[in-house]
Amino acid sequence: MRAVVFDRFGPPEVLRIAELPDPEPGPGQVRIRVRAAGVQPFDVSLRRGGMTWAQVRFPQTIGQEYSGVVDRLGAGAGEAGLAVGDAVLGSTMLDGYAELVCVPVPNVVRKPDRLDFPTAAALVAASQTASGALNELAVRDGDVLLVHAAAGSVGTIATQLARLRNAAVIGTASPANHDYLRQLGAIPVAYGDGLVEAVRALGKPPTVALDAAGGEAIAQSIALGIAPDRVGTIVDDKAAAEHGARVVRAGRSPERLTEVVALAARGQVTMPVRAYPFTDVVAAHTAVESRHGRGKVVLIIGT
Ligand SMILES: NC(=O)c1ccc[n+]([C@@H]2O[C@H](COP(=O)([O-])OP(=O)(O)OC[C@H]3O[C@@H](n4cnc5c(N)ncnc54)[C@H](OP(=O)(O)O)[C@@H]3O)[C@@H](O)[C@H]2O)c1
Repeated sequence: MRAVVFDRFGPPEVLRIAELPDPEPGPGQVRIRVRAAGVQPFDVSLRRGGMTWAQVRFPQTIGQEYSGVVDRLGAGAGEAGLAVGDAVLGSTMLDGYAELVCVPVPNVVRKPDRLDFPTAAALVAASQTASGALNELAVRDGDVLLVHAAAGSVGTIATQLARLRNAAVIGTASPANHDYLRQLGAIPVAYGDGLVEAVRALGKPPTVALDAAGGEAIAQSIALGIAPDRVGTIVDDKAAAEHGARVVRAGRSPERLTEVVALAARGQVTMPVRAYPFTDVVAAHTAVESRHGRGKVVLIIGT
């Protein structure tokens, strides 16, 4: 099979496509023929050598999220109700940009027919992160949620899930993404120096904040009068500790992913996809590394 690997830490150009042995599913695993793989800021950081805890062995494969079709069952996997040919999506560990991945059955979520493969792959990490964060912050009807980096992949899902909970949402983005945020149901504001004043000028004091941007986001949220225990970050653990705010990186949950996938299949949640062919992985990483854009960057791997 073909898979993306890198042989040293460095810029996007260290990524290359290699021919590797086909993986075989172990007990309780299924093998997936991958159709699309999401590209995360995590992957960029791994490639640059910033994920010091990750066990990297060169040539290292990469990628945390996939959609595709079950093509082989490991021992016992059929008892869980999965069959060859089922369309699925889910999380994997450092090997998603590949034609084949083997994953434990409990991590696999069924893909509804109405959801295309690129969108399914795009939902995996952002959905689990956004829904977990909203749960930890107990975002509810009557809240005014300030989402920092609302146009990004996590912000896109968090904004829509909060609106479905009847919370109002103020979202930060560059002006080019303000119409996009309005379409998601948020009130847009530009990030940067004037953010606190711009939010105050809306006359709608935020009650809770989700930081998917880092930098000044936590300090700005607290300056707006939000209680520190209702300011959550998925980016900046150090600033959270300094300000008494919370880290709300809830971890993976196929159950929460299943819920968002069902909403997406009904058209209640959308995720714009910026698709790149598998062979353009360098351009895909360059796009994510820019930290600008909307929705999600996805690699198209198979058809
Ligand atoms: N994806 C996950 O599941 C996950 C999980 C845990 C942690 N995280 C972390 O959460 C962060 C966001 O992840 P993501 O996947 O949503 O990233 P992403 O899709 O790459 O989001 C990028 C967004 O950030 C916005 N942005 C850039 N600079 C900003 C600033 N100074 N203030 C406010 N917004 C700014 C950009 O808006 P404009 O284009 O409008 O400039 C862009 O839409 C990353 O640091 C990531 O490591 C992500």
